[in-house]
Amino acid sequence: MYSLLLQQHILLIVVLIITFASAAATTTTDPLAGVFTTSSAEVLEETVLKPNDGTVPTWLCGSYVRQSASKFEEHTRHLTHTFDGFGKLLRYKFTKGGTVSLRANFLRSNFYNVSVNSGDICPSRLLGTTVPHESNAKAMTDNCTDNFNVNVVDIAGNIVLTSDYTSNKGAGKILNLEDMTTIEHKWNDTWTNYFDKITAAHPQQLPSGDTINFVMRINPVAIVGIGKHSIIVYRVNQHTNTREQLATIKVKKLPYIHSFTVTKNYAILAAAPFTWELGNIMAAKPVMNSLKWSPEDGTALYVINLQTKKVTEYKADAFFAFHHINGFEANNKIYMDVLANNMTSGLVPSSGLTIHNMLNTSIRDKLVGTAEYRRYEIPIPDESINNKRIKSSSLVVNYTMTPLIDASGKLYTTVELPRINGLKSTEISCYWYGWAPHAAGSNHFADTALIKVDVCNNINDDTNADDSISNVIPWFVQGHFPGEPIFVQKPGNGLAEDDGVILASVYDGIKSATYLAIIDAKSMKTISTLYCQDDWKHLMSFGIHGDFFQCKEEEK
Ligand SMILES: [Fe+2]
Repeated sequence: MYSLLLQQHILLIVVLIITFASAAATTTTDPLAGVFTTSSAEVLEETVLKPNDGTVPTWLCGSYVRQSASKFEEHTRHLTHTFDGFGKLLRYKFTKGGTVSLRANFLRSNFYNVSVNSGDICPSRLLGTTVPHESNAKAMTDNCTDNFNVNVVDIAGNIVLTSDYTSNKGAGKILNLEDMTTIEHKWNDTWTNYFDKITAAHPQQLPSGDTINFVMRINPVAIVGIGKHSIIVYRVNQHTNTREQLATIKVKKLPYIHSFTVTKNYAILAAAPFTWELGNIMAAKPVMNSLKWSPEDGTALYVINLQTKKVTEYKADAFFAFHHINGFEANNKIYMDVLANNMTSGLVPSSGLTIHNMLNTSIRDKLVGTAEYRRYEIPIPDESINNKRIKSSSLVVNYTMTPLIDASGKLYTTVELPRINGLKSTEISCYWYGWAPHAAGSNHFADTALIKVDVCNNINDDTNADDSISNVIPWFVQGHFPGEPIFVQKPGNGLAEDDGVILASVYDGIKSATYLAIIDAKSMKTISTLYCQDDWKHLMSFGIHGDFFQCKEEEK
């Protein structure tokens, strides 16, 4: 008995120590706490912002839209994963001459409306779960699976909010950039299917203005091993907003594909051996527990000729890349640049981004999700082989990896959210921009930089301590947490690829305030900052993607 009491006593002390350590780690002095807690304020009237420092470039004209997850509970029920937060949109409107105005509002989805009106989180397909837990079965109706908080893209002239799942026969929700209202996006064709549940959150726009994407059509009997599922790749005509099927790829297991590459003549889907447990998906179980990593299967690369519609399948050693950077054709090859995630845990690379983990500095700092910058070289397909789908074990693709190093010789290994100058899409581009926690090898997640990567010429800098070659210029402010960097090209002819600005929404952890940073893309130095106002200074929590949409010609 005494032994049992002693054990209980020791256990109690251990629990107290852990609890104390946990409480100490979540102290309110954490500069990032605001990023992972609800920011409830909205700006429903167009409101002009004044720069706190610097001046806004007078040539900027258009709308910078930020997607975010900014509310994580409804009354007593809490969401557990950052990505599941209620979508909130920030829209900074630039009028030529240097004026910036802002609107910000929660996405009025069914997920939001039903939750707020009922005082409880409406059951929805989630990456994580809720606390207290709600039955998954209630989410199977998809009534509230419309929290399109991941990305925002132009599809045939419509600004569409997207995610990795499709809405009811559409791509997501169409956003009105003026009043920030949304309507359901619907395709006007008839070939869509109830089982077209999964898509890519990053549709790719071709230089022509047409858009490429896919839907994954789940075959219910293939879930138990009979027959195959389909990946249907399609093109959206920019003038008619109609979809044309380009190719149907039959597969035994459906891979998770969040983004992909297009070049002038090809679309390249990297089908990692990271596949959906579709029984879980159909039952609306948490997405984070519904993917299986099977590296022994390798990654299939499906190269779809956009003209002939022929599909050629290549093989690569197993890799998964949340985000593709760019692709182009040269030297009779297709080059595909990606950030390949470290998959040694076998889990979704962002699975650790739970609210609990991110509010605990010691756990958060151990989340070092490395991603390698890789360039894959794919031979231009030989279509003289008269098969509809060419497949050969000899078609093996290799890559080169480039480490990311700044002028001080510091490495950047945790990098995500890559962006380029959109005008260089499908061409050779020299620069990409990324988001880098643990910047310069820091032990702290909160030390997050934006980086500019030069992939054409390594930068030799006099300040380089060991005289090694660097390819990274960082933008970093201690205690500030930036989101995805969006490049906007300066207007004019004959300008350099990096002649423009980076727009980023930043959380100032010292002032607990959201601000817009305008950064010179050549030097990565701040041009201007515009803070939100006192009564809504904490306006955005965890940002995901965004984009800049140019003014219409008559407004320029
Ligand atoms: Fe993404």
